[in-house]
Amino acid sequence: MQKIRTNKLKEGMVLAEPAVTKGGQRIFEKGKTLTQATIMRLSFYCIESVMIEGEDIPGAGEASEPTPAAVPAYSRQIKSSRAFQSFQIDHTLVLSTIRQNFEACVNQGQPLDIPDLLSKVKTLFGSCKTSFDLFNMLHNMHTSMDSIYVHCLNVSLICRQLGKWLKFDSAKSDLITLCGLLHDIGKLKVPPEILDKPGKYTDEEFDLVKLHTQYGYDLLKDLPLDAHVARAALSHHERCDGSGYPAGSMQDDTDICALIVAIADVYDAMTAARAYRSPLCPFEVIERFEKEGLQKYHPKYILAFLQHIAATYQNHRVLLSDGRSGNIVMINRHALSKPIIQFDDTSCIDLSYESNLSIQKVL
Ligand SMILES: [Fe+2]
Repeated sequence: MQKIRTNKLKEGMVLAEPAVTKGGQRIFEKGKTLTQATIMRLSFYCIESVMIEGEDIPGAGEASEPTPAAVPAYSRQIKSSRAFQSFQIDHTLVLSTIRQNFEACVNQGQPLDIPDLLSKVKTLFGSCKTSFDLFNMLHNMHTSMDSIYVHCLNVSLICRQLGKWLKFDSAKSDLITLCGLLHDIGKLKVPPEILDKPGKYTDEEFDLVKLHTQYGYDLLKDLPLDAHVARAALSHHERCDGSGYPAGSMQDDTDICALIVAIADVYDAMTAARAYRSPLCPFEVIERFEKEGLQKYHPKYILAFLQHIAATYQNHRVLLSDGRSGNIVMINRHALSKPIIQFDDTSCIDLSYESNLSIQKVL
C-alpha cells in the first residue's frame, strides 16, 4: 500500500484505506476502484492524497502539497469563504463537462458540444463580479487541482477577461473564450507519462510535447468552428520575435487570437503551483514578463493585459520581500511591477526606486 497524491491517481487503482476529507467526512470506502469520476470527486473534496493498494506505484513518494502551516493565512481564509466554495463547485462541474467533451472528441471522434461548453464557461465567468474576484479565485484554485482541463478552463476565463478589458463585442468575446478553452486539446494525444513527467524534458521529449499544437489543429480544423479556433491551437506557442514553435513565425504571420491566447496561457502557467516552486504572485508575473521581454508578445495586448492586472490590485494589501506589508496606492505605468506602497503609519515607498525590494504576495 502506498500514499498517492490525488493529481497522480489513475483509473483502476484501488483504495487501500477509506478516502476521508480534512473535516472527517468519508467519501469512499476501502476497496473502491477509482474511475475518472471518482478521482474528480476526490479533487472536488480537496482530498490531497489517498492510500492505494500495491507497491512501486508510479507517482508515490513525490513532493507533497504544501503543509497547512506553509499556506498563507489569507489563502486559508479565502478557501473557507462561501464565495470560494461556490466557485469551486461550479468550476468542478464545468471541468467535468470539458473532460467528457474532450475525451469523446479525441478518443471517439465525437463532436464537441460547443454551445453547452461556451454557456457553462460564460456562467462561471459571470459568477465573478470583478476581475479581482476572478483572479483571486483562480489563484487559490491552483493548489488543489491541476490538469489539462483546469488549464484550458482557466485560460478560457483569462482570455474572456482580457477581451472584456479590450472592449470586445459579444461575438469576439465568445470567440476568444473558445480559443482559450480549446487551445491545448491536442495535449490529450501526447503520452501522459511524457507530459506529466516531473522535471525538465529531454530534447526528444520536448519535441513530442510540441506536437500538441499540430494535434490540436488537426482535431479542430474540420469542425464547424470559426477558423481562428484551430489556428489558435496551432500557434499559441508562437512568439512575436520568432522564438516560438511550431513554425517560429513572427507577429505578422501569426493568428491574432493565438497571440492573445499566448498571453493568457503563460500567465496561467506562471501562477500555477509547480513541484519546484510555489505559484507566483501577479506582480512577480508582471516582473517576469517585463524582464523576459515584452517583444515576445503583441504590444497592444500584453500592455493592456499587464496594466489591467496591476490595476486589479490597486488599493489591495501586499507583502513585501522585507516582511513589511502595506497598501498599493498608485500603479507606476512605466514599471507596473513596482507600484507605490503606503504603510500603516501613512509613510510611502516607491518600489521603482528600490531595486532590492519587491511584492511577494497579495494579502
Ligand atoms: Fe500549449
